[in-house]
Amino acid sequence: MGVREARLLRAPNPNIFFFIILLSCYFFMSSSFAGSDSDALLSFKDSLSNTRALSSWSPSTNPCKGNRGNWIGVLCFNGTVRGLQLENMGLKGTVDLNYLVSMENLKTISFMNNTFTGAMPDIKKLIWLRSVYLSYNHFSGEIPEEAFLGMRFLKKVLLTNNEFSGKIPLSLTALPRLTELRLDGNKFEGQIPDFHQPSLKSLNVSNNELNGPIPPSLSKMDSTSFLGNENLCGEPLGSCKPPKVSPSIPPSIPPVKVSGKKSVRNIVLIVVILVLVAVAFAAAFIISHLRRQQGLLHENKTPTLLMNDHNKYAASYGSPMQIKSPETHAHPRRSEQGKLFFLWEDRATFDLHDLLRATAEILGSGTFGASYKATILSDNVVVKRYKQMNNVGREDFHEHMRRLGSLTHPNLLPLVAYYYKREEKLLVSDFVENGSLAFHLHGNHNIDDPVLDWPTRLRIIKGVGKGLSSLYSTLPSLVAAHGHLKSSNVLLNESMEPLLNDYGLIPVINQDHAQHLMMAYKSPEFAKYGRITKKTDVWSYGILILEMLTGRFPENYLTQRHDPDADLVNWVNEMIKQKRTSEVFDSEMEGTRDSKGELVKLLKIGMSCCEEDVETRLDLNQAIEMIEEVDEGESD
Ligand SMILES: *[C@@H]1O[C@H](CO)[C@@H](O)[C@H](O)[C@H]1NC(C)=O
Ligand SMILES: *[C@@H]1O[C@H](CO)[C@@H](O)[C@H](O)[C@H]1NC(C)=O
Ligand SMILES: *[C@@H]1O[C@H](CO)[C@@H](O)[C@H](O)[C@H]1NC(C)=O
Repeated sequence: MGVREARLLRAPNPNIFFFIILLSCYFFMSSSFAGSDSDALLSFKDSLSNTRALSSWSPSTNPCKGNRGNWIGVLCFNGTVRGLQLENMGLKGTVDLNYLVSMENLKTISFMNNTFTGAMPDIKKLIWLRSVYLSYNHFSGEIPEEAFLGMRFLKKVLLTNNEFSGKIPLSLTALPRLTELRLDGNKFEGQIPDFHQPSLKSLNVSNNELNGPIPPSLSKMDSTSFLGNENLCGEPLGSCKPPKVSPSIPPSIPPVKVSGKKSVRNIVLIVVILVLVAVAFAAAFIISHLRRQQGLLHENKTPTLLMNDHNKYAASYGSPMQIKSPETHAHPRRSEQGKLFFLWEDRATFDLHDLLRATAEILGSGTFGASYKATILSDNVVVKRYKQMNNVGREDFHEHMRRLGSLTHPNLLPLVAYYYKREEKLLVSDFVENGSLAFHLHGNHNIDDPVLDWPTRLRIIKGVGKGLSSLYSTLPSLVAAHGHLKSSNVLLNESMEPLLNDYGLIPVINQDHAQHLMMAYKSPEFAKYGRITKKTDVWSYGILILEMLTGRFPENYLTQRHDPDADLVNWVNEMIKQKRTSEVFDSEMEGTRDSKGELVKLLKIGMSCCEEDVETRLDLNQAIEMIEEVDEGESD
């Protein structure tokens, strides 16, 4: 297994994910057949000493009866063990969680106030845990940095009054759901790492041996959370610099009235400094400006579009493009094989090995191939595999990815990293918990996930427009800057703001494939004239608007359409002709009672975006301007 894994890691191949998934299935199955909760608990008990308090744990009864625990300290729900609350029982020995790994329903463990010794139990073996209470024992030693790695459900960690030493483990800072952390009364030393989880409500690190500044993210915590550490400083405790005799005064130009050589010299000095600073700023500005211009020039000189004979549209529309034969730029460099290229320096926290080792979950098979969700250090990322990008040379590919990676706009999902291999590419972006617009429009709904109401839909439509507009201004050389806009490529963040995804890929996708699958090539102009234009994304935007207003899944998204006339635009047109416009709107959409006028206004804009004749179709800026004028109306 070790050898096999090593080989796979060295030469990652397309099957690696399946291998990992098979492996996880295997573990899952083997663990669920490995024996009942009862066996697991009894062996765990045997591994402890002084277990008199656990005399009710006996093989002749079940640990649970419905929601009640038959065994002391066992918390149950619906016949399965959900928690262990072994507190104040005088238990001794070391805690080996390997015995409990098979108990997948276990959400909480408490061993508080016993006499356990030894190192921190290997808590991440129980990856599903929500809370861990180990306070008031004699656990000791350093906690490994990655002790809490990948525990994305963990909310509460209580380690108060033990003998832990060394640094506060960094993996605690990456727990996405952490709400309460108590480390007080140990011997932790070094600096407090930066906890930036918004979920963290309560933290106590008092009575340790910590030093250095308290990270700003914790400055709002109660000051008693930090007491008893001699060398901590910064908010909410005292300031970090020892108070000077004369508090520092911001430099200012002395009053002009004062004369004398000394003050003149001071003025000269200050002026010189100011001038130098100004020059430095100007230089930085000019350099960055030049760089950007160079980037654009470069972009025009060597477009990354690599095309094959199937390109029918190239000649007539968009900026001039140069046709290159693939491979002219491909100089496979051994050292770069198997490397993950990060587009955001601060995100380079994992490498390809971590990615391949991370637990992967198939999210679905999208247009281009499967996508996977991988969890690395409780960062959830989405990895998409593309096999249809192999006509692009290495340098062109790198350049295009860097360009996509440089885009920052609140309505664009940033590309985090990519992996290049001739026959396969991986693109890595963040996982967006709230899912796609398509899911919200067409998925099953319940109380947690109500149908999107009208104000939300309008906000999303406006946000999509902003994202598109930013793509158009930053990728001016692309004919269709997005190219694949549809509701499954619009993700929604926690505040239901849209994030566009899968944008700017037309230059790197093999053309025959793109023409078969991508939204831009489903436009009327491509069907009629075999070309796409700068207004093609506007058509996709229009379809999206109609989809959101009607709640209907557009036939236009399908690869094999049964009836080309049965598309959303025709349907809406037909309904308008029959004077049944009010029946067009999604009947489940709330908040529309007094907004009929606005709904119709937006419907008309959507229709103008879908105008078959490219000449009369709105362009992007016109569409956005008109949409900005639509408001929610007097919603109820
Ligand atoms: C309780 O468990 C039974 C069988 O194990 C299952 O059918 C039922 O749906 C469960 N009920 C709840 C509320 O989880
Ligand atoms: C700890 O457990 C002992 C019994 O083992 C009990 O007497 C004591 O009150 C408990 N302390 C706390 C703080 O719960
Ligand atoms: C932190 O713990 C100490 C004792 O360990 C206690 O005195 C203090 O009140 C606690 N502060 C908070 C905010 O919990």
